[in-house]
Amino acid sequence: MKAKKVLGLVLCAALAITSLAGCAGAGGGKNKVGVSMPTKDLQRWNQDGDNMKKELEAAGYEVDLQYANNDVATQLSQVENMINSGCKVLVIAAIEGSSLGSALDKAQQKKVPVIAYDRLIMDHEGVDYYATFDNYMVGTIQGTYVKDALDLDNAAGPFNIEFTAGDPGDNNAGYFFNGAYDVLKPYIESGKLNVVSGQNTFEQVATPSWKTETAQSRAETILSSNYADGTNVDVWLCSNDSTALGVENALATNYNGTYPIITGQDCDKANVKNMLADKQAMSVFKDTRTLASQVVKMVGQILKGETVDVNNTSDYNNGKKVVPSFLCEPVFANKDNYKKILIDSGYYTEADIS
Ligand code: BGC
Repeated sequence: MKAKKVLGLVLCAALAITSLAGCAGAGGGKNKVGVSMPTKDLQRWNQDGDNMKKELEAAGYEVDLQYANNDVATQLSQVENMINSGCKVLVIAAIEGSSLGSALDKAQQKKVPVIAYDRLIMDHEGVDYYATFDNYMVGTIQGTYVKDALDLDNAAGPFNIEFTAGDPGDNNAGYFFNGAYDVLKPYIESGKLNVVSGQNTFEQVATPSWKTETAQSRAETILSSNYADGTNVDVWLCSNDSTALGVENALATNYNGTYPIITGQDCDKANVKNMLADKQAMSVFKDTRTLASQVVKMVGQILKGETVDVNNTSDYNNGKKVVPSFLCEPVFANKDNYKKILIDSGYYTEADIS
């Protein structure tokens, strides 16, 4: 064995003790990990990207972090570049779950493992693992909050409700909507909850690209067509914070009735501010640090050839296979517990949300 190779191996062994699996093998150099994020437009993906980069670097990897501006073609070419430039593992939060086929074909040819990050990549064999928060549980937390806040089992009602869901191209969006709808369905069927607009299927209430402006204009139309006569909307079930913000904006200018219960997800800064100002009742906290740590652990396990931690091997079928998944637990958040979960945990400072 050549001296250079031996030195490489010794260095690698030494590094392996201190870092996870950052060493590329004989010859030295760090293993490179590609991290593909959908957009910088939404607060959470910036945090996800930052956390992933920080943690992967701390574990000894080189990181190629890219944001795709919510443009599928951009994400495809960024992922292909990651493969061409020698990334050993890909971590991808898909813009459109079913549109990454050609990049995943290439990853498979080059034997580059793929972890779907937060959003499942659909219709491809080449997705090795999936790490996310329990998406159905996010919806259940929202639905259960509404059920309890209105005391639906005991109150006479009826109450008026509207729904705003997420992007049809994001596999998560259906899980969020169904999780919430399944809790509320019996009350809709019994007439205790009345969907005044009549729009209660996922297709009718979806918001392409999760855009605040799109959610806002749909809410404005619903308000002017159904609530201008003084009818109150008691609940607006929103799947996440960016869409909740749109509904909150619409209510501010197009509604004079009693302010509704509004749900959300992510604990974005703007929405935490709105919770503190009583403009949003709750959100669901998905600590992006927890997800990043889990994914970094998975990357290390893959590169070391170890068994990869998963806790769900039945629920996430991407149309080609059931993808072994790790589901982190989402946490209910409102203005009563935000200090503990958001401030004391170091996620935000008070200044961030005041
Ligand atoms: C994520 C949510 C996020 C939404 C919009 C979903 O896939 O799970 O946390 O609010 O995308 O970016």
